[in-house]
Amino acid sequence: MDYKQLVTESLFKVLGEHLTQEAIYSLVEVPKHTEHGDLAFPCFTLAKSLRKSPVEIAKEVAEQIDASTFDAVLPMGPYINFKLDRANYTKDVLSTWMEEGEMYGSWTIGGGRNVPIDMSSPNIAKPMSMGHLRSTVIGNALANIFEKTGYTPVKINHLGDWGTQFGKLIVAYKLWGTPEEVKADPIAELLRLYVKFHSEAEIHPELEDEGRLWFKKLEDGDAEAEELWDWFKNESLREFNRVYDLLGISFDSYNGEAFYNDKMDEIIEQLQEKDLLKSNRGADIVELEKYDLNPALIRKSDGATLYITRDLAAALYRKRNYNFDQVLYVVGNEQSYHFKQLKAVLLEMGYDWSNDMHHIPFGLITLGGKKLSTRKGKVVLLEKVLNEAISLAQEQIEAKNPTLENKEEVAKQVGVGAVVFHDLKNDRMNSFDFSLEEVVQFEGETGPYVQYTHARTQSILKKAEDLNVSNESLALSDDYSWDVLKLIKNYPDTVKRAHDQYEPSVIAKYVINLAQAFNKYYANSKILVEDQELYARLVLVKATSSIIKDALKLLGVEAPKEM
Ligand code: ARG
Repeated sequence: MDYKQLVTESLFKVLGEHLTQEAIYSLVEVPKHTEHGDLAFPCFTLAKSLRKSPVEIAKEVAEQIDASTFDAVLPMGPYINFKLDRANYTKDVLSTWMEEGEMYGSWTIGGGRNVPIDMSSPNIAKPMSMGHLRSTVIGNALANIFEKTGYTPVKINHLGDWGTQFGKLIVAYKLWGTPEEVKADPIAELLRLYVKFHSEAEIHPELEDEGRLWFKKLEDGDAEAEELWDWFKNESLREFNRVYDLLGISFDSYNGEAFYNDKMDEIIEQLQEKDLLKSNRGADIVELEKYDLNPALIRKSDGATLYITRDLAAALYRKRNYNFDQVLYVVGNEQSYHFKQLKAVLLEMGYDWSNDMHHIPFGLITLGGKKLSTRKGKVVLLEKVLNEAISLAQEQIEAKNPTLENKEEVAKQVGVGAVVFHDLKNDRMNSFDFSLEEVVQFEGETGPYVQYTHARTQSILKKAEDLNVSNESLALSDDYSWDVLKLIKNYPDTVKRAHDQYEPSVIAKYVINLAQAFNKYYANSKILVEDQELYARLVLVKATSSIIKDALKLLGVEAPKEM
């Protein structure tokens, strides 16, 4: 039941001459103070046409409304406040949840259509840093949210495994590396070589040419270059997979940049056929003046292709292979110019579906206020952060629940969940500073707090098994359960809003609210008492428990039964 619609209809009966249903519906709001009412209608817009003050209008209209379907309809200043019929509402919300169970909050908007999500996409031979955490967890949460709204998400790890940097790395390895050192600690050693290349190239610029040459060899299929590249890639993937395993995140495709090496000729040909490729000092560019953008560099003078060339090939491949409804690129805000150019070139090529490509940008994670960059070797290793979070969680569990059976597993779920949740509760465009101690707290707006609330609901339900339920009526009469109920009712709309805005934080903020409302309820009422409302209270606890778990699942966070 849509209660906003109910309020709208009763207002429309009185105000039909002055406002359309749609206009009324869009004006109905949730009052700031819940004790004033559950929904409210502001009368300001009517003041002009009715030539009366909003306060007077509120009073007069409230009197004319048929209040029989509400607990109360009361004017308050310029507002008309509606108190919903609690008995009906409670029955409606709880029985809907009981009918739908785990499907509660699902939508069929997507009609099963494919939505490739380009996410994580770290660069080979470099550590996966905190910077890649955001893309991975935001992308994963969006995949879950799109699944819940009826799409078929396809998680693609567009690995950065191609480009001139691999020419440089090969040169550095041939000059200063040994197989033993790489094997001992692959990414650290490859990073050391990469960093050394850059500092040496400042003194010996000819190294840059050497690097370009080796990348060209790689593109042309030179055996030695390919063998080294393959090796670097496999070692890197092994390390990345350790992090993905910790996060519990998997991919449907690891087609990275290299995958498109043999698919770029077609792009170049199409650009030539459509007369879009202009020569500029030996290089090939596409003019994008009409989009107010700088020209896109498609091919360098030595014939080497670029990041954007591979993205053009990838976009075309994805359209053909997945016939996508839309495709999401979960990539940091600093690449937004790149995606503007990418979309513009595709539009120039006549591909209207370019408009279905969405860059989903996000802000930076800083550490102690500083930006993280790999070039200078200043990195925070994600794996290390996650492992530290796990040991912090373990300490907390040790202190709070020393007899817990599967402590290690729970510590992992809580530690990793804390990092993931912290990332997702921020609006994705916000930049934020990362402090581990703050993240792994059992109190405050944290992942562990929400998980703890879920564990609490589970323990209540376990204790309830021994009680006698005298009836199956769905009636609740206290104010604290009312706030929980209203949040339960809002879950489906919350899921839809997260989908509409490509914004997992909508879910994270919601589940914090639900956990807080539930804990208030828990602190102020006796749940496990054998009275007339026990059955309804237990349904409320069950619904809360299952929705917290479902919301956390959407975010990619586990919900242990005990912690
Ligand atoms: N590897 C890139 C980086 O770490 C991100 C790739 C994003 N995806 C894409 N299709 N361009 O910056």
